Amino acid sequence: MTSTDSSPTPATTGPITDTAPVAVIGLGSMGAALARAFLGAGTPTTVWNRTTARAEALAAEGADLAPDLAAAVEAGTVVVTCLRDHQATRELLGALPAEAFAGRTVVVLASSTPAEARETQAWADQRGIRALLGAIMVPTPLIGTPQSLILYAGRRDVLDRSRATLEVIAPNSAYVGDDPGLAPLLDTAMLEVFFAGMTAFLHASAMVTAHGLEAAAFLPWAKEMLAILPDTFDGLAADVDAGSYPGTEDNLAMELAALTHMVTTSRGARVDSRLPELMHDLARQAVDAGHGADGWSRVVEVLRGPGDRA
Ligand SMILES: NC(=O)c1ccc[n+]([C@@H]2O[C@H](COP(=O)([O-])OP(=O)(O)OC[C@H]3O[C@@H](n4cnc5c(N)ncnc54)[C@H](OP(=O)(O)O)[C@@H]3O)[C@@H](O)[C@H]2O)c1
Repeated sequence: MTSTDSSPTPATTGPITDTAPVAVIGLGSMGAALARAFLGAGTPTTVWNRTTARAEALAAEGADLAPDLAAAVEAGTVVVTCLRDHQATRELLGALPAEAFAGRTVVVLASSTPAEARETQAWADQRGIRALLGAIMVPTPLIGTPQSLILYAGRRDVLDRSRATLEVIAPNSAYVGDDPGLAPLLDTAMLEVFFAGMTAFLHASAMVTAHGLEAAAFLPWAKEMLAILPDTFDGLAADVDAGSYPGTEDNLAMELAALTHMVTTSRGARVDSRLPELMHDLARQAVDAGHGADGWSRVVEVLRGPGDRA
């Protein structure tokens, strides 16, 4: 991490103080939702999209349709881009002279990797473009609602300038640090928790349905396990940060037996067993290295491996 911000701990943004005309560039599912939220809040909104039909649909809902990209940028004090990725964003905006962005704030909301985000911030800085990078953490129906969450990273002064405008699309926004890579890093890390949880539920559902139970019958039991995860995460995080993995409440040798049951039950149900095998192998590696008396948090060292870390 290279953030000079005191901590990547989310800090909620403050109250709305003003509004600005916006331009929304990129009107796929997410860009259209952003534009609709601005329109719904009464924000003057200009739209542009590579495929014009998508922009025309928004124009029918009250947006101003820019005839070209330059006109869209000119119309917005805050220019929100929501293209598929950062490379497409840089290529598109790079077709305009840097002067086209004078006096404007460009908010790049495409998903990316930390390296891509840093490249985009450097790209903007080199051109003197005032840019803010964000990662959208909610699906389109939540945009503009109190549950909407966007993580912003990079130049806090730029966020502060445009905060009132941006709160329209995500009142529950958070600034996570001055390293622009932090927003996509946390985005990716949060999605990993989400996808791993969904995949584990689907694997377990495949096992129980192979034995004649419905997934709906398993659901309350799955939720029982979900309910203990928040406290479990607290303990794991404390261990990871302390670099100490005491097996006072659980130990890997015991958990290896449970994971062996999981693999055996999965295979017995003729369900793809790679997921429990992965967890089993991680525990096995730690136990074989002499850490059988440690807690599950020791697995982080197996995952880190012996090599240099990014
Ligand atoms: N949808 C979600 O629920 C969601 C949630 C969180 C984050 N996000 C992120 O939001 C971003 C947009 O997602 P989306 O769902 O709106 O995607 P999408 O429906 O596939 O739309 C992609 C948009 O990018 C434009 N585009 C792609 N390549 C381009 C290029 N080379 N030049 C100009 N325009 C280009 C497309 O223009 P055309 O219409 O001309 O193809 C379209 O406007 C992605 O980074 C995604 O990861 C989406």
